[in-house]
Amino acid sequence: MSSTRFLTGITTSGTPHLGNYVGSIRPSVRHSLRADVESFYFLADYHALIKIDEPSRIQRSTLEIAASWLAAGLDPERVIFYRQSDIPEIPELTWFLTCVTGKGVLNRAHAYKASVDKNINAGDDPDSDVSAGLFMYPVLMGADILMFNAHKVPVGRDQIQHIEMARDMAHSFNHRYGEHFVPPEAEIEDDVATLPGLDGRKMSKSYDNTIPLFAPREQLKKLIASIVTDSSAPGEPKTVEGSALFQIYQAFATPEETADLRQAYADGIAWGDAKQLVFERIDREIAPMREAYLALMNDPAKIETILLAGAAKARQIATPFMGRLRSAVGLRDLRAQVSNRATKTTKIAKPVYKQYRERDGKFYFKLVDTDGRLLLQSMGFDSPKDAGQSIALLQTQGASALPALADKLQASSDVDAQDIHAALQLMLDAD
Ligand code: TRP
Repeated sequence: MSSTRFLTGITTSGTPHLGNYVGSIRPSVRHSLRADVESFYFLADYHALIKIDEPSRIQRSTLEIAASWLAAGLDPERVIFYRQSDIPEIPELTWFLTCVTGKGVLNRAHAYKASVDKNINAGDDPDSDVSAGLFMYPVLMGADILMFNAHKVPVGRDQIQHIEMARDMAHSFNHRYGEHFVPPEAEIEDDVATLPGLDGRKMSKSYDNTIPLFAPREQLKKLIASIVTDSSAPGEPKTVEGSALFQIYQAFATPEETADLRQAYADGIAWGDAKQLVFERIDREIAPMREAYLALMNDPAKIETILLAGAAKARQIATPFMGRLRSAVGLRDLRAQVSNRATKTTKIAKPVYKQYRERDGKFYFKLVDTDGRLLLQSMGFDSPKDAGQSIALLQTQGASALPALADKLQASSDVDAQDIHAALQLMLDAD
């Protein structure tokens, strides 16, 4: 539990292309292999409904994106991999968050504002063709993140505003109902390339300039051959600046390979030869995955089973957490006594920190609840002062201090992570 929680979603609105692979699928799979993180990967199909009203396309895209993630090496045993619409707690949480989010805040969301501005510039009614779903998009995204109290959300710069809104929702809810949510942070992937498309603009479905990730070999070759280049002849030196072909190569090649191509450009490599090189390099990385992808696409039942198992894991967290949230806001069993100290979590009686020294000469502390149940156990510190500093951090910041203390603390394995969070927050509240 003392590990950092990462969460990533992909909207199921299209066929994955090389840009999605380089910008999102590949880094997220690499990330999932790290030992010190707990990660959540999901197919954002409720989000797809905002943009797409073709049911078969949503189904197809869900299958394609799930198969791509798995083919790229995502291990569903290691991570929590699920489909958003299998978690009914998410739309329920969306409503709770809707009620603590200012309408004015949503008015300022980029995607919504862009649509409105476009209408105004075209002389149309500002809200023409703008669905309430588009308006509410940031709240649904906030629910995705807060449902699992993710600490870090790896996103491109265009999504930072959404993470900030999720932080605000966490604060507003916590302020009204007690500390339930950890405000998430955006993890900006600066070293991850934005891939240019066939025409040199950013590779994007909306520009119709994409190369499908798992295009058959022959089609991949043709598409790469159609990437725009300048008209310099074979033998004429070529510049790498502004060369889409070069940038695409770079996203797949090692630094040495990239340096070689840079040299070949300077030496006047023919565009046809350069394209052949780029094609072979990309195909070398993609080909093994393509096989796995095709096998998965031919076995939708297998993917369905994997997703349902992932949803079950996710709901082991979401269902009890939602139960606590329902109670926190006052949606309660009427037989339970009405209390006006409505905002406090009372599941765990006030826990205490115990500090002690072991035979190894080091200083330790642990957090135990009133029944003597162990919640957190520290590693050995060299001095009591060091131990005290960690305790102070927990006392002032509650559960949000946990990521920073990840290598100094261990959570008890027989207590639910959410209960430990609740205990830490309770101690905050008590001060
Ligand atoms: N908005 C993201 C996209 O357009 C997808 C998404 C939905 C997401 N919910 C999320 C990403 C939560 C990160 C966290 O691709």
